[in-house]
Amino acid sequence: PEGELVDRRGRRVRDLRISVTDRCNFRCVYCMPKEVFGDDYAFLPRQQLLSFEEIVRVAKIFVDQGVEKIRITGGEPLLRRHIENLIGQLAKLPVELTLTTNGSLLAKKARALKDAGLTRVTVSLDGIDDAVFKRMNDVDFAVGDVLDGIAAAAAAGLAPVKVNCVVKRGSNDDQILPLARHFRNSGHILRFIEYMDVGASNGWRMDEVLPSAEVIARIAAEFPLAAIDANYPGEVAERWRYTDGGGEIGVISSVTQAFCSSCTRIRLSTEGQLYTCLFARAGHDLRALLRHGAGDEALRREIAAVWRGRDDRYSEIRTAATALPERGKIEMSYIGG
Ligand code: GTP
Ligand code: 5AD
Ligand code: SF4
Ligand code: SF4
Repeated sequence: PEGELVDRRGRRVRDLRISVTDRCNFRCVYCMPKEVFGDDYAFLPRQQLLSFEEIVRVAKIFVDQGVEKIRITGGEPLLRRHIENLIGQLAKLPVELTLTTNGSLLAKKARALKDAGLTRVTVSLDGIDDAVFKRMNDVDFAVGDVLDGIAAAAAAGLAPVKVNCVVKRGSNDDQILPLARHFRNSGHILRFIEYMDVGASNGWRMDEVLPSAEVIARIAAEFPLAAIDANYPGEVAERWRYTDGGGEIGVISSVTQAFCSSCTRIRLSTEGQLYTCLFARAGHDLRALLRHGAGDEALRREIAAVWRGRDDRYSEIRTAATALPERGKIEMSYIGG
């Protein structure tokens, strides 16, 4: 009687992104700048985090409502204790199960994650030159350790590994070609992401966004590229292949070519708030329901009501004015990349 679950723009819910911690051991300049996330920054106390049991309960209801992909994010998800136990429980659901990580702990954890049932990983990597990479992560973390993590993931069978680089003009755009050269013929899929105005901390400016079209032009000048079809409708990355057979790359252009019209993503924050958009101002408190004895049917109704009421398309209506850093925009480290 209720009909299929679509939002106010006719979009279904297919991807659930779950943030398992708001903490991170990096301080990437575009995400958790040190000036804001300093030594005295108050992260969430433990009892406010959703437990694995609570997360799994919510995830099951989403899968019943049509979710086919679950992505674990953070903060840095591998900092959450016993994360492989959560992976093991989610892996029993009929979904593709992936995780986005900064790679710092991957060399140590790749095997356990694979054994627990993880399908793939996506590793963030904003430069291949050690000095540039250290400037981007701002904690002096060496690039070699992330490369070891990527290699360990591939060796464990978490393949293909996707490698995500956020491009900030003037900071790391000189890494585009070196990264492309490094990952050609590696079997890993390198993707460049336009720097976005998420959160209220990063001091985003439009002139620091390098449009994906320029990323492609720079790479194509050295290695000819041809566009390839999306893997599935609504895929975020636009795919390209090296015409000499060197593999594929991708670009994610949420600033210059918004993809809201096909956005099937919902996000569950570390403390159990549901966000229907990366740029949402407010979430919907599932934790309160969970902790006040709501049954599965009540949770299902709430989730359905939240999705049916969804009207978000922030990236399509972004203007210089809406992009201004202001209080109230949710940080990416809290809601999950
Ligand atoms: P795969 O199926 O593994 O390719 O996943 P994906 O294409 O969703 O990629 P991933 O989850 O790694 O997302 C890559 C980056 O794209 C994120 O870190 C964000 O920067 C950006 N992104 C992903 N989803 C959204 C979204 O819903 N809105 C916006 N504006 N950006 C997004
Ligand atoms: N712009 C674009 N992507 C971002 N991420 C975090 N902050 C931003 C931003 N301002 C994404 C990156 C990173 C992931 C964890 O979150 O893709 O790899
Ligand atoms: Fe941490 Fe990822 Fe944010 Fe960098 S982008 S500070 S690695 S959560
Ligand atoms: Fe989806 Fe919001 Fe991103 Fe648009 S801006 S693609 S609606 S999360």
